[in-house]
Amino acid sequence: MTTAPDYTEKIPNNVNLREDRRLRRALESWQPDFLNWWESMGPALPTKDVYLRTAVNVGREGWAHFGHVPMKDYRWGVFLAERDSDRRIAFGQHKGEPAWQKVPGEYRADLQRLLVIQGDTEPASVEQQRNLGATAPSLYDLRNLFQVNVEEGRHLWAMVYLLHAYFGREGREEAGELLHRNSGSEDSPRILGAFNEETPDWLSFFMFTYFTDRDGKYQLGTLKESAFDPLSRTCEFMLKEEAHHMMVGTTGVDRVVGRTAQVMVENDTDDVAALGVIPLPVIQKYLNFHYSVSLDLFGGETSTNVANYYTAGLKGRWMEERRTDDHRLTDDSIMVDTLAGAGNGEQSIGQTEVPALVGLNTDLRREYISDCRSGVNRWNKILAEAGLTQRLKLPHIAFNRRVGAFAGIEAAPDGEKLPAGEWERRRGQWLPTDVDKTHVRSLMQPVHERGKIAAWIAPPRNGINGKPFEYDYVHLA
Ligand SMILES: [Fe+2]
Ligand SMILES: [Fe+2]
Repeated sequence: MTTAPDYTEKIPNNVNLREDRRLRRALESWQPDFLNWWESMGPALPTKDVYLRTAVNVGREGWAHFGHVPMKDYRWGVFLAERDSDRRIAFGQHKGEPAWQKVPGEYRADLQRLLVIQGDTEPASVEQQRNLGATAPSLYDLRNLFQVNVEEGRHLWAMVYLLHAYFGREGREEAGELLHRNSGSEDSPRILGAFNEETPDWLSFFMFTYFTDRDGKYQLGTLKESAFDPLSRTCEFMLKEEAHHMMVGTTGVDRVVGRTAQVMVENDTDDVAALGVIPLPVIQKYLNFHYSVSLDLFGGETSTNVANYYTAGLKGRWMEERRTDDHRLTDDSIMVDTLAGAGNGEQSIGQTEVPALVGLNTDLRREYISDCRSGVNRWNKILAEAGLTQRLKLPHIAFNRRVGAFAGIEAAPDGEKLPAGEWERRRGQWLPTDVDKTHVRSLMQPVHERGKIAAWIAPPRNGINGKPFEYDYVHLA
């Protein structure tokens, strides 16, 4: 049973905040801090209003409402997917037992840590994207940026709700800290590396929403399996919103690749840097960067922590219930990537067999990689259809890694292990250089005029919510 959200309250919700005075007070006292954070760290471009989707319900028919709203008045709410009162734990040592409606004492610290790590990424991306509005290629894109931003804000609310509702004073303290760490800050950076990188231009934004937001999708997918039912239901609803973020990334890169291909064909040249679009080799370098830092987000190839989370029922696998094994994995094994000794003191990139539980990060990363491959395939189809022979590629798993088995070595995009000196000499062929970044940034001239679009990107095939591309998605201040 879910209650209908009440929009007369300060915090729209379907968690019955009206009845829970203590929790409502806690959230209402966190809300001004959130709004201060949004004002100082959220979108910098002044706007009057934006055509935004707002979550208003969780049911099968219509969960969102579209309309022009001033962003500071956006109704960030708390929504959990509908409860299945018969839900049972699908994996681990508690498999078959009823899902938990409260946090078991022995798992409290671990669950809190998982929530904080997930929660920390949500406002981080808003901070990273704060200045992009000033260089938006169209009002349609500007609107999508802001949509992603407000929903990441809502995802922060989702995690803060759980911290406040289920984790007592420590949870409230952690909720406060989520607003005090900041992306790229020297003193108190965000927890994960990729969320301290800059998102300085729109190619980075599309690559980020494709590769890094997609990591988020997979993490949420594992938390959706959690035995802790409120977390599971929260993540299930967040995944609904994430689908739009994935679309922004996928079609964003489509449109960059499509426009570059078009200019290459029209001018019969690969050398398009002077023609106002982004050359394919630069797109490849951005892809290499965002993909490799996103692979790091999945952690080490092996992890006993994650094995314990699984056994305890805190965090499952991607599509746990579609797997056909015993969902306990105590007798299974998996091949994981590793650096193997070659006997002569040298190390080479290879694979080794480990217990399946310990290799769960690898399992999740593989699901993610095969999903990423589908994006590359679709971009290559655009190139093929334009009659071009060039192709984009995912770099090797060992390329540019800072976490896991390959953190200590350097490898080329084809997986060849390189001496440090050679890596330094050649890295500019594979990762964006200052020259590349400056060129991309030089193209980022804002187009804030209705129905117009920048020259480096193709218009979208479809607008938002049935509206045309020319729609007045954003009114600037
Ligand atoms: Fe999110
Ligand atoms: Fe997202």
